[in-house]
Amino acid sequence: MDVRLWEYLQRILTARVYDVAVETPLERAEKLSARLGTPVWLKREDTQPVFSFKLRGAYNKMVRLPADQLARGVVCASAGNHAQGVALSARRLGCRAVVVMPVTTPRLKSDAVRGFGAEVVLHGDSYSDAYQHAAELGAANGLTFVHPFDDPDVIAGQGTVGMEILRQHQDPIHAIFVAVGGGGLLAGVAAYVKAVRPEIKVIGVQMTDSDAMARSVRSGERVRLNDVGLFSDGTAVKQVGEETFRLARELADGFIEVDTDAVCAAIKDVFEDTRTVLEPAGAMGVAAVKQYAAEHGPHIGSLVAVTCGANMNFDRLRFVAERAEAGEGREALFAVTIPEERGSFRRLCEVIGRRNVTEFNYRISDERVAHVFVGLAVTDRGEAAATGRAFTESGFAALDLLDDDLAKDHIRHMVGGPSPLASGERLYRFQFPERPGALVKFLTSMHPDWNISLFHYRNQGADYGRILVGVQVPDATAFRAFADTLGYPWVDETENPVYRLFLR
Ligand SMILES: Cc1ncc(COP(=O)(O)O)c(C=O)c1O
Repeated sequence: MDVRLWEYLQRILTARVYDVAVETPLERAEKLSARLGTPVWLKREDTQPVFSFKLRGAYNKMVRLPADQLARGVVCASAGNHAQGVALSARRLGCRAVVVMPVTTPRLKSDAVRGFGAEVVLHGDSYSDAYQHAAELGAANGLTFVHPFDDPDVIAGQGTVGMEILRQHQDPIHAIFVAVGGGGLLAGVAAYVKAVRPEIKVIGVQMTDSDAMARSVRSGERVRLNDVGLFSDGTAVKQVGEETFRLARELADGFIEVDTDAVCAAIKDVFEDTRTVLEPAGAMGVAAVKQYAAEHGPHIGSLVAVTCGANMNFDRLRFVAERAEAGEGREALFAVTIPEERGSFRRLCEVIGRRNVTEFNYRISDERVAHVFVGLAVTDRGEAAATGRAFTESGFAALDLLDDDLAKDHIRHMVGGPSPLASGERLYRFQFPERPGALVKFLTSMHPDWNISLFHYRNQGADYGRILVGVQVPDATAFRAFADTLGYPWVDETENPVYRLFLR
């Protein structure tokens, strides 16, 4: 065995982490295993006291500092999980901790760090600015810098995750999937696994827009990225560590890159199995397991994903829930073009048939044709493609928007605006119990002589669906009579000033 590997094995076996960390469970994800046709196991690092594995490395580093160094205190730079690991460890060891965070850090996170008794210094716009400032503060005040990943004691602390997995699962394991930012977790897990059970593959997982380690390993030297995607903030690192690079390059069996939609879908998968919401970095391993199983087929053997964090901003959930459907291919999105004539809306509804509508947006804008933004619930990408063909066969041009970020992030919220063609339009808002077919029932019961000039509906996962509809009715009383027969609560919004400001 390589001398350095032997040294890491020793460091990991003697790492001190359990004063603050717990041995987390390795749980079988039943639903995901059944879906993928191979056993999937989750190493539940999201259940640590600070909701991520990061306290293992931070504590192992700090507890080993000579007493006089510890007495002077420590400093670190972090916008998230490492900060909490350092702060909790400092409280346990009774030492001073200064945490430099970018000024853009959400209050929730800086408050959590202060809650552990650490001093928070807000500095700079980015992690790099905070890092620079932390190094300066450390030098000026005699504080020891605790690196988030590029330190043998930090790597060894994270390596205890690998040690626990092998102890908890003594049957064969095909591969372990580890999210990578700076590479501390990957390096530690790989060092232990390759020393003890080298036949198990250790696979690093990166975001497609933040893949410094995969690129560095490919090019044989550490590369620095100019920009990194921030969705998975835990792994948004521009340059990996020297030591983590050396270990990952030697020991990792490969890398898998996953995208935002796949990570959102993985957050949902883990929620369905455990009722826990992971943060994006925490779900990357699961997204990679799914990708790997899809490529290698079922019955491949046990796949372990480290679910490494759950520090999720609550206000991100809406985005995650929306993208999870797209990531699974369970929502198909189309721009469907239909003739601007009476009855064509209804014909469109007939093609949609009994499929569940998730979104329906339209604003009159052309005398000849209408472009409708349509979302439909489907079981997979195959059904989405079949639905696209069904539109085309019925004479409606349909543009598939599933992989179009412009459509998913912006255009769906922008369908609308004033139209010179909307003369005589009246605006109504309806509420109806959310159930399959309810929207199509509403559309098909409209009087064929009324032209629909505006329509907005988005399934929000609520018990009631909300529809906004603009109709060109010669007589408002006739529409009221129709609306009353539907039996759903409704409001006439024609005189609402916001309608006049944005839609007339
Ligand atoms: C939840 C989570 N996952 C993964 C990582 C990446 O760890 P590393 O920098 O050791 O690669 C981090 C780092 O902070 C994290 O917080």
